[in-house]
Amino acid sequence: MHSMKKEFTQAHTDVSRRNFIKTSALTGLGLAVAPGLSFGKGSKDDKVQIAFIGVGGRGRSHLNNILKRDDIIVTAICDIDQTAIDKTLNMIKKAGFKKPESFSGSKTAYLDLLAREDIDGVIIATPWVWHTKMAVDSMKAGKYAGVEVSAANTMAECWDLVNTYEETGVPTMILENVCYRRDVMAVLNMVRQDVFGELIHGRCGYRHDLRGVKFNPGVTFGKDANSEARWRTQHSLGRNADLYPTHGIGPIANMMNINRGNRFLSLTAHATKARGLKDYIVNHAAGGPEHPNANINWKLGDVVTSTINTANGETIIVTHDTNLPRPYSLNFEVQGVKGITDFDYDHRRIYVEGTSKAHSWENMNKGEEGSPSWLEKYDHPLWKKYGDYAEGSGHGGMDFFVDNAFVESVKRKVNPPLDAYDAAAWSAISPLSERSIAEGNAPQYFPDFTRGKWMWAKPNFALDDDY
Ligand SMILES: NC(=O)c1ccc[n+]([C@@H]2O[C@H](COP(=O)([O-])OP(=O)(O)OC[C@H]3O[C@@H](n4cnc5c(N)ncnc54)[C@H](O)[C@@H]3O)[C@@H](O)[C@H]2O)c1
Repeated sequence: MHSMKKEFTQAHTDVSRRNFIKTSALTGLGLAVAPGLSFGKGSKDDKVQIAFIGVGGRGRSHLNNILKRDDIIVTAICDIDQTAIDKTLNMIKKAGFKKPESFSGSKTAYLDLLAREDIDGVIIATPWVWHTKMAVDSMKAGKYAGVEVSAANTMAECWDLVNTYEETGVPTMILENVCYRRDVMAVLNMVRQDVFGELIHGRCGYRHDLRGVKFNPGVTFGKDANSEARWRTQHSLGRNADLYPTHGIGPIANMMNINRGNRFLSLTAHATKARGLKDYIVNHAAGGPEHPNANINWKLGDVVTSTINTANGETIIVTHDTNLPRPYSLNFEVQGVKGITDFDYDHRRIYVEGTSKAHSWENMNKGEEGSPSWLEKYDHPLWKKYGDYAEGSGHGGMDFFVDNAFVESVKRKVNPPLDAYDAAAWSAISPLSERSIAEGNAPQYFPDFTRGKWMWAKPNFALDDDY
């Protein structure tokens, strides 16, 4: 493991100077170099000083990746739960790093963490309602914010992310790991190499049976529950909306150059009736028809479907489906004038006119005898370079790339590849779908979060094998 760590850092050292210039020139939307940063302050050997706010399940999986690097130090951690702090300190000790300072004891203890000088970037993995507030406070304190998904819950929060970034010059990165999934990046590569021709339509979604996450243990949620059942379930009670759009929309937004030559214009949303959660409680061994939770009226429709129009004339259908029994799927489809792909973990198919047998799908995983498959042929340069290293980093390897992009952006003081504008535009799907459903599926309009900059901004996500 140690030699791999060295090799990895070496590869970065070799390319970082060259690519700093390249990345700066290509970063069309944001400030190339953020002036308000405290990078390097207090760092003995120019390691990137990372802090964590929220070290539950997700925070610790980021930590696990960060601790494999030798270009970082973890200077501070914060959580309101002492068990989470203890587990985190244990991981840091085991990895051979110095003990960071811990902040706990109140919901705003993170503000004391942010007051420290020896922090360059903060990874925020708390419940949704805290994301924007913590990202905004981090930027104001001069620290890069790496914020988990979704980044915002309301339109006002979406604007807060953008406005604070513009006022402080300190970037925020939405840590959307699915943008880095191997098959997603191969399809992005195909799009960029014009395999599908001009894009016309996309589909995506978050179709994940979360009933065992929303209730844990048994049919319990709220303060007596574990992990996400403590907070996530509450959103199904109070909101009828696409509550979690970014795993699906992030990848499609990159393929359609959203905020960089294109933008989301409007959305209409539809919700089904809400039956899944009640049914789960009634039929669960720990629940039953007499259980107090069986009488709850859940607001979240079991399947919420939003249709987005883009400035360049594409449509995108985004699905949110978390209350019913079903296998996991993000439901990707990308369609252009020359062909189409329909893919996920369990099926990956493609049809390209002139190449595929007429009216027949090809399997993207398997090539003809002796020739590479579609996925091998279009494997993204980042995966070719770091694929072996990324294995085991979480979620099939993609988590390595999102954490790497965050650390590299902080280190080089550049705007990250997924920035405040992306965080705002993608997260806005939640409040806009909520309003559309509440108004009888009426169209809602995305504000131009970039204030016109999308018209000349150039794509900057994963343009090469750098980060
Ligand atoms: N990208 C992914 O694949 C992925 C996967 C899982 C979770 N997530 C996201 O990560 C975030 C965290 O999810 P999780 O599964 O780790 O949830 P979790 O409940 O396990 O952890 C959240 C942690 O935040 C802490 N916390 C709550 N309020 C706080 C405050 N005011 N100050 C400091 N700490 C506070 C909690 O004590 C807990 O330890 C969520 O936004 C979730 O949607 C993303």
